[in-house]
Amino acid sequence: FFFPISSGNPDETVARDVAGNEIKKEEFVKTRKPGTHELVQGPKGDPHYLIISEDGELRPYSLDAVCTHLGCVVPWEAGENQFICHCHGSHYDSTGKVVRGPAPLPLALAHVDVNENGDIVLKTWKEKDFRTESDPWWK
Ligand code: FES
Repeated sequence: FFFPISSGNPDETVARDVAGNEIKKEEFVKTRKPGTHELVQGPKGDPHYLIISEDGELRPYSLDAVCTHLGCVVPWEAGENQFICHCHGSHYDSTGKVVRGPAPLPLALAHVDVNENGDIVLKTWKEKDFRTESDPWWK
């Protein structure tokens, strides 16, 4: 479904759609509704969520959709306002923080930025995890 494409800089990955095309920020934001949680190909080829906030802005971080329990891709459940893993029932809030196990850790973060071509890029999150105040477990 997703296939990895190298960008040269290991700390920076151009977000790509299922067809492998770069995603232009302006078009993405203009054509999505507030509350959108869309899977794109991100760092390490992992599916990442790009999120349009209720104010219509692209959230400045993405969430790695790979469950921290045993690696299933976690769907966004809009009605519950949570990510709920169908494999073993872990719940994560809208920031990716665990609210119910067995998942042991929050969903991995990446910074969302734009390159000179207007493409959305995901950058390695090396700072403290704002949800747990801990160093990032995914570094
Ligand atoms: Fe998600 Fe087990 S893989 S809860």
